[in-house]
Amino acid sequence: MENGNKLDRGFTLWFTGLSGAGKTTVAEIVEHELRERIGSVEVLDGDIVRTNLSKGLGFSREDRDTNVLRIGFVANLLTRNGVGVIVSAISPFKEVRDQVRREVGDGFIEIFVDAPVEVCAERDVKGLYKKAYSGEIPQFTGVSDPYEPPAAPELTLRTNEEEPADSAKKVIAKLEEFGYLQPVKEYGRQVS
Ligand code: ADX
Repeated sequence: MENGNKLDRGFTLWFTGLSGAGKTTVAEIVEHELRERIGSVEVLDGDIVRTNLSKGLGFSREDRDTNVLRIGFVANLLTRNGVGVIVSAISPFKEVRDQVRREVGDGFIEIFVDAPVEVCAERDVKGLYKKAYSGEIPQFTGVSDPYEPPAAPELTLRTNEEEPADSAKKVIAKLEEFGYLQPVKEYGRQVS
């Protein structure tokens, strides 16, 4: 599908999915690639935002929605100023994700980082699933709190079936398809 030339336009890549699904891992590879190819890139990662902009917020639905709306607010400001924004946040509730989608408008690209909770728990990168299953951490997404998958994401990445670099390539390809990036011939290969 051809979506026209938007090479000078901002966008928001919104990675949503369970903790440990691979949002940050894929986002970091995408960030690296984008920094080589466009002028302005900014990253808003839930874990980091929660140490400053959303400091003090917890994991009730209300606090998560506040966190996501704050991230969305900043993403919108950046997007309309031509920045390529990369968001990674669980953002478990559809309603508020859709609200951000409406605010950002055309440049909002929702990426569902889809991995079964068993796989995320098996990886347990931060040791949080163990604590969630034992009840030490309450209201843990996918264990004792809901995750509502997107109904119509622009892209779904099945991170238990492919390598992070392959997932990142799909994101870049999507940006090229939508016209935000100039397609590069033989992407990923050295052209001498
Ligand atoms: S969101 O729900 O508000 O979008 P966000 O992405 O900012 O979440 O933060 C999620 C991170 O907080 C997780 O990756 C994990 O490290 C940590 N965390 C701590 N408690 C919880 C919890 N109850 N549910 C989910 N993540 C939690």
